[in-house]
Amino acid sequence: NHHSLAVIPGDGIGHEVVSEALRVLQHVQQISGRFQLDVQHFDWSCQYYLRHGRMMPEDGLSTLSGFEAIFLGAVGFPTVPDHVSLWGLLLPIRRGFDQYVNLRPVKILQGIESPLRRYKAGDINFVVVRENTEGEYSNIGGALRPGTPDEVVIQNSVFTRKGTERVMRWAFELARTSRKRLTAATKSNGLNYSMPFWDEVFRQVGREYPDVDQSLYHVDALASYFVTRPESFDVVVASNLFGDILTDLGGAIQGGLGLAASANINPDRRFPSMFEPVHGSAPDIAGKNIANPVAQLWTAKLMLDHLGYPEEGQWILDAIEATLLAGIKTPDLGGTATTHSFTDAVLSRLPA
Ligand code: NAI
Ligand code: MG
Repeated sequence: NHHSLAVIPGDGIGHEVVSEALRVLQHVQQISGRFQLDVQHFDWSCQYYLRHGRMMPEDGLSTLSGFEAIFLGAVGFPTVPDHVSLWGLLLPIRRGFDQYVNLRPVKILQGIESPLRRYKAGDINFVVVRENTEGEYSNIGGALRPGTPDEVVIQNSVFTRKGTERVMRWAFELARTSRKRLTAATKSNGLNYSMPFWDEVFRQVGREYPDVDQSLYHVDALASYFVTRPESFDVVVASNLFGDILTDLGGAIQGGLGLAASANINPDRRFPSMFEPVHGSAPDIAGKNIANPVAQLWTAKLMLDHLGYPEEGQWILDAIEATLLAGIKTPDLGGTATTHSFTDAVLSRLPA
């Protein structure tokens, strides 16, 4: 029951929320007694890039491959282009370790007011499964006649049968353990090669799951349903780009980016999975001890679920909700708590 954990706080508020989440994990580990996290820290980040010219060492991936899980804050710094931090650290990890499922829960927590005022805690409760290794984010393309009036820029998408099938199957399996409803995002009217293929694979895999209610919506319509009838969703499966956009919308309807958690899962468990909040390094509030730690704490819960301790994971979510219900909130939610004092309040609400 030892689990090796690579911790990458990253930049900005990543440091602040990761150190708080580690306090909570340590406490949960103590109360539970069922597991031990063997933690090792890595300072890979934009700060590391400014010193070394790369986001992580050349053998970074092979170092990480020896761990069972990766717990990441966020990377990004104003003087480093965002594509450097993304392609230099996050994407190599997601792809190198075949973390083909990006799981993002969308749920209104107790004590939180959704901008969709008619929905209360628990009314919205679904998960988005985002394909995480291919699709629209494929690094294939280029420019013809750059800088001229006749410039043409091409960005290609790649959808493989294996890559599409496996994420569909994972989403169907999840729906089966949940409320047995799976919705897929498509756009087969506009993207007339990739999306008809996506739809075909959805229908084909779906035949193995006759017990799961299945629907397919164009992503633009689906985005509007996230706002007009979010209660109708259970599991939503989407391609890399569509999932990226839908989950930011999901973060908004659940009450803000400071609450949104995510897991990058390698279901085969041949490689480590990575757990990170949806938000970035928030340079505008970094270093002020006012970042909301809920997203990172919820991310810690997703990690415990993955490691086989869902009961302990639930303790964390319950303690977060009890804290919010007591009116203790960080400034992004209209409160006056600090990152640290909010976490203290969560710690005091864990089981004794
Ligand atoms: P961001 O998520 O860092 O910030 C957007 C807005 O939300 C800001 O006003 C920020 O203060 C607020 N916010 C975010 N998380 C919060 C929290 N926990 N508590 C309170 N307020 C919070 O996104 P932005 O500004 O687009 O990007 C900033 C940097 O982060 C960029 O360099 C970007 O590339 C990077 N980034 C990194 C990600 C990652 O590491 N996975 C994901 C998204 C952005
Ligand atoms: Mg995004």
